[in-house]
Amino acid sequence: MNASDRQAAPTQTPEWQALVKHREELGEVRLRELFAADPERATRSVLEVGDLHIDHSKHLVTDETLRLLRELAAATDVFGLRDAMFRGEKINTTEDRAVLHIALRAPRDAVIEVDGENVVPGVHAVLDKMSAFADRVRSGEWTGHTGRRIRNVVNIGIGGSDLGPAMAHEALRSFTDRDLTVRFVSNVDGSDLHEAVRDLDPAETLFIVASKTFTTIETITNATSARNWLLTGLRAGQEAVAKHFVALSTNAEKVAEFGIDTSHMFEFWDWVGGRYSYDSAIGLSLMIAIGPERFREMLDGFHLVDEHFRTAPAESNVPLLMGLLGIWYGNFHDAQSHAVLPYSHYLSKFTAYLQQLDMESNGKSVQRDGEPVTYQTGPVVWGTPGTNGQHAYYQLIHQGTKLIPADFIGFAEPVADLQPGLAAQHDLLMANFFAQTQALAFGKTPDEVRAEGVPEELVPHKTFKGNHPTTTILATSLTPSVLGQLVALYEHKVFVQGAVWNIDSFDQWGVELGKVLAKRVEPALTEGADVPGLDSSTKALVAKYRELRGR
Ligand code: F6P
Repeated sequence: MNASDRQAAPTQTPEWQALVKHREELGEVRLRELFAADPERATRSVLEVGDLHIDHSKHLVTDETLRLLRELAAATDVFGLRDAMFRGEKINTTEDRAVLHIALRAPRDAVIEVDGENVVPGVHAVLDKMSAFADRVRSGEWTGHTGRRIRNVVNIGIGGSDLGPAMAHEALRSFTDRDLTVRFVSNVDGSDLHEAVRDLDPAETLFIVASKTFTTIETITNATSARNWLLTGLRAGQEAVAKHFVALSTNAEKVAEFGIDTSHMFEFWDWVGGRYSYDSAIGLSLMIAIGPERFREMLDGFHLVDEHFRTAPAESNVPLLMGLLGIWYGNFHDAQSHAVLPYSHYLSKFTAYLQQLDMESNGKSVQRDGEPVTYQTGPVVWGTPGTNGQHAYYQLIHQGTKLIPADFIGFAEPVADLQPGLAAQHDLLMANFFAQTQALAFGKTPDEVRAEGVPEELVPHKTFKGNHPTTTILATSLTPSVLGQLVALYEHKVFVQGAVWNIDSFDQWGVELGKVLAKRVEPALTEGADVPGLDSSTKALVAKYRELRGR
């Protein structure tokens, strides 16, 4: 059977209808009551995978809800599609591609075939090449055109060729070589590159041009400007490029066309989606920063969760559970968004990274066969590190009118190199972490408010209805392996949801139209060209823009 006709709309299954009925019968579940009725709920609702301790007790579910959700997963053949992915089948049907980010972290002796060819040796050959290069840069053996050692690394890429390495570099900052400056440029707004290089010495700067396709206009434009900056700064010709530019891509032809020697290209493959790619060659900037050994520890963390997802039974399969809980809220409670709230400043880019992972994957409204969906698919994913969010938007989560399921991610230990005085702040950070999920779940009743002597007219304002569902993910500390585990958890959660919704989570046609129109409209801005097909609003806005620019 082809992966595309693996299942029909989930809503047509009896299991979906059973959940509809169950939701009606449950009515409004009160977390206070669920906990009161079951003293074991907190301990029973914990799963462990690798270094991650996952508490899902504070969800608006009963054992029956979870059972019915697992039945929906079985009816929609989530594990069948999972196995097809691990076997290298072309489950990305609209692009006719395999989906094998799991091969990027497979051990050397694994065998994963695409079109009859084992891809694992190629993965390790690139990892070895990256490691050798990273070591040369880190040791100072790799020098720039003038013979000076490289002290600055600038990754130029966008989307999956930026968010992953930028997020992971921030997350693992305490593991980085602090003598190296590593920066990330993504925006075609020239200010991004300007700010990234303005205090750098070109003689000591290495540019990593990261682009799967090597045709992405933002990246090629920035890379061209970076090359000009370099050659001007060095007062050198094209020959200087070789020591200051490397490429990460699947497209050797375009890399060569840009002027980068393909021996300085680190390859990956069309079966790696951009948003699933930072553990491929796209992670080179990260590897230079943290070193090959730490990078491989991160890959092992990914692999550990891959194996868990592949082999754990449904009852203890964490990505399955996370995916199904999202479906419970999105499809049966009409929740529109999902917050991811890390209590680690080092994870400040984590949610932005997940936005692409989740929203580019599951922001779809047609099924695999092209039929429109009649149910909600991917949520809006958002969030920033605690405790900052507490003083900004948590008010709405606590007392607003929207149901916002949230993941809280925290660590028992602060990072190892924090000064003792600052490390002492960690308990306060984590006290907030635990307090928030408690307040969200159990709230504060009007009677509890009154008991504090609050005047009656203020009681409704100071009441917290609670019942806001959260998952708590706790680990000892944020290590490379733990980061890999976390990312793999979310990758597979997104997979589970896409499988249930019967959508292709691995294409991204939705970003194409804007790209095409930008290309078409540009001459109207620059030359005042009369671009056919421009609507009257856009035409007027472009005219205003030209007027404001004095054109
Ligand atoms: O336009 C979206 C997208 O294709 C993402 O999926 C991808 O991560 C990003 O652009 C960058 O693409 P590339 O790595 O080919 O430059």
